[in-house]
Amino acid sequence: MILLQNVSMTLRAAGRPVDILKAISLEIPAQQSVAIVGPSGSGKSTLLGLMAGLDRPTSGTIMLDGTNITTLSEKQLARFRLRHIGYIFQSFHLIPTLTALENVLVPLELSEARHAAQRAAELLKTVGLSDRMDHYPAQLSGGEQQRVAVARAFACHPPILLADEPTGNLDSATGAQVIDLLLSFHRDFGTTLVLVTHDHTLATAMQRVIGLRDGRLESDSLSIMLDPAQSPSFCTGEAR
Ligand SMILES: Nc1ncnc2c1ncn2[C@@H]1O[C@H](COP(=O)(O)OP(=O)(O)O)[C@@H](O)[C@H]1O
Ligand SMILES: [Mg+2]
Repeated sequence: MILLQNVSMTLRAAGRPVDILKAISLEIPAQQSVAIVGPSGSGKSTLLGLMAGLDRPTSGTIMLDGTNITTLSEKQLARFRLRHIGYIFQSFHLIPTLTALENVLVPLELSEARHAAQRAAELLKTVGLSDRMDHYPAQLSGGEQQRVAVARAFACHPPILLADEPTGNLDSATGAQVIDLLLSFHRDFGTTLVLVTHDHTLATAMQRVIGLRDGRLESDSLSIMLDPAQSPSFCTGEAR
């Protein structure tokens, strides 16, 4: 579960404090899929970064699966993130000097996982890239790079996957493949999935849509389709 209580974020821009998030309280139960939508600059990336522990709020509390991440040391936070959170960036953020396989190996080796190489290869197979394992990011298309990033984010089997506009740099067909992958982890492993998107169709594939405006929660709507097994394939629109 992700629990935010009165979370505010104030940054300084041009010497003045700017309130980027204003007293946000929010509860996302385990296994839910959530879209965060809102105009550019409304605070979506900031909010997601706080949930991931990439940043710390100015005030307020963030609990992930019962742990208050706002009070952890940097070292504790890094270790917590490795086991609990998978994060996917709009621009993939793969390490350019490592192959696809080596990129997926990074979190596995950091967490001292057993059979790391085998697990990394299986993950790349799951995302449809068994024949691209030894390729470097520059040798892969955008969609392939994002699928490597998805495999890396899911490598340690985190209970929470967060994605900031994961399809923002992809064409719609390629983007749909990436979303189907994220939804398949959500469905098959009960992974909590929170993604930021501009795409309305994508947002409605999630069980819940949260709207942000000017750093505040503007809307919060739950779809009736709560059983992930009932959610249609995003690529084909067919029921599973
Ligand atoms: N490091 C920063 N310093 C100052 N202002 C920032 C910083 N990062 C983001 N902002 C501002 O915070 C607001 C929200 O940013 P962001 O969370 O990236 O919005 P979104 O993802 O919804 O487009 C924007 O007005 C942005 O300019
Ligand atoms: Mg953003």
